[in-house]
Parts: sequence; structure tokens; C-alpha cells
Amino acid sequence: MIGSNIQTAKRFLDEGKLVALPTETVYGLAAKAIDANAVRRIFEAKNRPQTNPLILHFGERKLVNFYVSAFPLRLKQLADAFWPGPLTLLLPKSDQVIDIVNAGKDEVAVRIPNHPMTLQVLKELNYPVAAPSANPFGYISPTQASHVDEQLGDRVNYILDGGNCENGIESTIVGIRNNQINIFRLGAITADEISNVTGEVVSLHNSSSDPLAPGMLPYHYAPRTPIMIEEEWKERWSETHLGIIHHSWAKADEMKHSIRLSTGNRWKSAGSRLYQSMYDLDQKKLEGIIIQRFPNEGLGPTLNDRLKRAATPKHNG
Ligand code: TXA
Ligand code: MG
Repeated sequence: MIGSNIQTAKRFLDEGKLVALPTETVYGLAAKAIDANAVRRIFEAKNRPQTNPLILHFGERKLVNFYVSAFPLRLKQLADAFWPGPLTLLLPKSDQVIDIVNAGKDEVAVRIPNHPMTLQVLKELNYPVAAPSANPFGYISPTQASHVDEQLGDRVNYILDGGNCENGIESTIVGIRNNQINIFRLGAITADEISNVTGEVVSLHNSSSDPLAPGMLPYHYAPRTPIMIEEEWKERWSETHLGIIHHSWAKADEMKHSIRLSTGNRWKSAGSRLYQSMYDLDQKKLEGIIIQRFPNEGLGPTLNDRLKRAATPKHNG
């Protein structure tokens, strides 16, 4: 059921049911985070391994303090700067966090999302919700209510329709390793924006040394149609039935299944339409989708990270 009733969303969450909630990044598949059976339903609905921890979502800072055992100053600065917003912090968990939420790790991921309807729901609850992106495991994250309905509609009790997600790209995940700010997942907030707040250089966390941080599974976010990432337009594509997603290929605009993400260097606006474009072209069952690589400025590194994952075949052994 899709609707826009805050109280209905709250009631289902209170009952331990699944509710898809809009956020400024992507839609989340939410359940009461203090109820192990409710959280288990998230993993079942998504077909997601329970070794992959979930993010706790809060409506206000006060409640966060019950679920973490420490809040390092530099991460507090980031929270002050970006919450509510597309920033997820890895913090030492308190004993209020049940194992199924964070896969029994020492840290728990937390964020306060910035979407007016979801903030209203969360502020009415006296517990956080656990929520991964509301897509089947490995598939593209949903940026509108209809994506959730088409992929998981029969497994979700209620989809709160909050329109198109403003950022359309997941939150940036930040934590501390070796006393340094690390980015665990590039996201809607750029590395420069993070280091402008803390005044230090941030490192990209090397996930190959930490295989249990499945946030970094290479084949996340992939459409079913094969994806190819390219720098330059190739003339031979104009003869084919390929999908094209680009930002500056004039020739591509003449093709039937071509989507231009933005005019000029408006990477935020390009990012907000990237998943939706992959999703739409994926429904057309084309032979392949060619996506133009983004320059390494602004959101470019985040968007290229998602392209790389989308281009990694799921069944590569
Ligand atoms: O923008 C977002 O972050 C969206 C919206 C719904 O909030 N959520 C989202 O959740 O993208 P999900 O589960 O699809 O991705 C979160 C990633 C997971 O890949 C998980 O491995 C990582 O965060 N993660 C969560 N808790 C973690 C932890 N304690 N340590 C390391 N990684 C963690
Ligand atoms: Mg996800």
C-alpha cells in the first residue's frame, strides 16, 4: 500500500511491520530497531545476508545518545554540520543496540535523515528505525515510491510516498580508524566537504583489508542489464539498441534510449537522476547500457564509484 499518512506509517512501525520511508538520499526499508523479529523481516524482504549491518535512523540527537557509548568530538562536529542530512557516522555502540541490527559489531551506523515526512514519523517514535535502502539485495537503490512498489511491494506493509529523493545517492559513511577520519562509503557529501569541517585530510577506507564491512561489496547497486562505463562517445553506438546515460555527448541526444543527466557541471542534479535513469533503462530490457564517466570533481568520485559497482557482474564466481 502506498500513501502519505504519517500516522499509518507510525502505527505499522509500532506493530513491528515494514514501512518504506522516503529520505533525501534514497528510500529506506524501515523497521523498529529494538525488535529483533521486526528487523529480521528487513533481511528476509531484501534477501540480504544478516552479516551486513544496518543503519539506525533517528529523528533527533537526544535519542542517539542512548544507542552509542561514545561520540568523538570530530564526529560531533560533522553531525553538527550535516544532520539532518546525508551523513552516516560509525560510532561505538551501546548495549541498547541488538546484535541483528549491526551484525554484532562494536560499532553502529547512525544518521538523522533530512526528509520532512520521515522526520515527522521519526520524531513520533521513542525508538530508532533500522533501515537499509529499500531494494532487493544487490539491485539499484530506489529514489521514488514506485521503485519500491515494483520491487518489494508485496513484502512491505506501507510505502510512505515522499516524492523523488533530492540527492538520489546514498549517504556518505564516516568513521575513525587509527585516529584518522575515514570515509567508508563515498556518498552525497563529498570528501572535501567533510575535511572542510574537521580541518584534516580524510582517507578512503581500504575495504579489502576489512572484508566484513559489506557496505563495500563490489556488486551493489547493479541493474540487471549489463553496464559499460566509457569516457568518449563512439560513433558505432548510434547504430545499436543500447541505452545511454550521459552528461555531455551531443550525438547521444539523437538516440532513442538516451538520457542526459544534466547540462553543464551540475553534478548534484546529475546524481539525483542517476539511479532513476538506470532503473528506467533497465525496464526496457536492452542489450546494454553505456554510461559516461564523470570528471573527478565535486560529486564525480561518488558517482563513478556507483558506476563501477553497477558495472561489476553479480555472478562472477
Ligand atoms: O543513504 C543511506 O544511507 C540509505 C538511507 C535509506 O538512509 N541507507 C543505506 O543503507 O544505504 P544500506 O544498508 O543500503 O547501506 C548501508 C551500508 C551497508 O552496506 C553496511 O554494510 C554499512 O552501511 N554499514 C552499516 N553499519 C555498519 C557498521 N557498523 N560498520 C561498517 N559498515 C556498516
Ligand atoms: Mg543499499
